[in-house]
Amino acid sequence: MSTAGKVIKCRAAVAWEADKPLSIEEIEVAPPKAHEVRIKIVATGVCHTDAHAMHCTAAPTDRDDIPLPGVNLGTFPMILGHEGAGIVESVGEGVTNVKPGDAVIPLWLPQCGKCEHCLDPNNNICKTLSVNNQILGLMPDKTTRFTCKGKQIFHFMGTSTFSEYTVVTDISVAKINSAAPLDKVCLIGCGFSTGYGAAINSAKVKPGSTCVVFGLGGVGLSAVLGCKNAGASRIIGVDINKDKFEKAKLFGVTECINPKDHSKPIHEVLIEKTNGGVDYAFECIGNVGIMKSALDCCRLGGGTCVVVGVATVGTIAVHPFHMIVGRILKGSFFGGWKGVTDVPKLVSDCIAKKIKIDDFVTFTLTLEKINEAFDLMHAGKSLRTVLVYQHHQK
Ligand code: APR
Ligand code: ZN
Repeated sequence: MSTAGKVIKCRAAVAWEADKPLSIEEIEVAPPKAHEVRIKIVATGVCHTDAHAMHCTAAPTDRDDIPLPGVNLGTFPMILGHEGAGIVESVGEGVTNVKPGDAVIPLWLPQCGKCEHCLDPNNNICKTLSVNNQILGLMPDKTTRFTCKGKQIFHFMGTSTFSEYTVVTDISVAKINSAAPLDKVCLIGCGFSTGYGAAINSAKVKPGSTCVVFGLGGVGLSAVLGCKNAGASRIIGVDINKDKFEKAKLFGVTECINPKDHSKPIHEVLIEKTNGGVDYAFECIGNVGIMKSALDCCRLGGGTCVVVGVATVGTIAVHPFHMIVGRILKGSFFGGWKGVTDVPKLVSDCIAKKIKIDDFVTFTLTLEKINEAFDLMHAGKSLRTVLVYQHHQK
């Protein structure tokens, strides 16, 4: 029986208020409006940005820090999740890029294909992101497609993948090869692409170069893989958790450093080890102090530090002389990928085993276990936990 045009009742993990565990509820998902797509989510990763949103009470307009484009915080109640994959269930009027039955990855960073940023091959931050009301947890028409117990539920990052069904805009969806394992390639929706693209697109790592990656979690190891696939000859991994080292070596790290084993500042250790500094440094932790260390260990005359981790507090204190001598400090947003065009290619690379995406999945759980997935992440036990939905039909 077709569900197109009808309200779908399904299960979702609802964040009713800050600092509370997510609660599994039956919700209603309205049909997609014009230029919207309703997706049956098959699997989703759990990412730090979801955890941050669970604990952040301030609405975007009330915060004194700079909001991250497209990331709505404090818009409770909401359905989190932004690293998913699924199958198109139905489409609204005017949707031409996908059709029911297509395998897709929802995109928290849209690609309208028309704005100056989309037309610039070196810019992936579609201008739509700033005007589509995603930062408010709403669809472009300023309404939501979710209700639960008679209450309106906000969207999150334009994706809300912690629901068995979600609605996204048609510029926020990438059509992928249907042969792809959705319970693995869902990670291309955020964490994997963020780290991998930081090396491939933002740094443009050159063959034979020396790289250092700070933080050997899922994002850091994706950056490691990017460095390796770009031909780096030396990839140094830095982490304060020595349990991360064994796995990091399997991903391509050539040597590991634990800052706790050194009395000197870590950038000095790295400068010594590399005879003057590294070609590329990646900060995949989200700590402004480490961002400074990552810049400080870059070699003179072109050493490049790429900020990948999301720091929610603080600023990077840089002496101008550090830049005068040719160090480069840059950032990476979704790894510099343009979602609609590049996500399908990354999925193809997974199918071709150029990217072994399975290696990033540490645990697979059901939606009911979502709070355990967050516990595993906070305990540093997972690269990524993937939730696979069972879609119990009533
Ligand atoms: N020095 C070195 N390593 C550290 C430090 C530190 N001061 N603090 C934390 N780490 C290590 C942790 O031990 C862990 O292995 O950084 C790693 C971070 O990994 P995860 O917690 O798995 O995080 P990940 O999913 O990889 O994301 C990293 O990128 O997208 C952002 O918001 C995300 O800011 C986060 C970052
Ligand atoms: Zn655009």
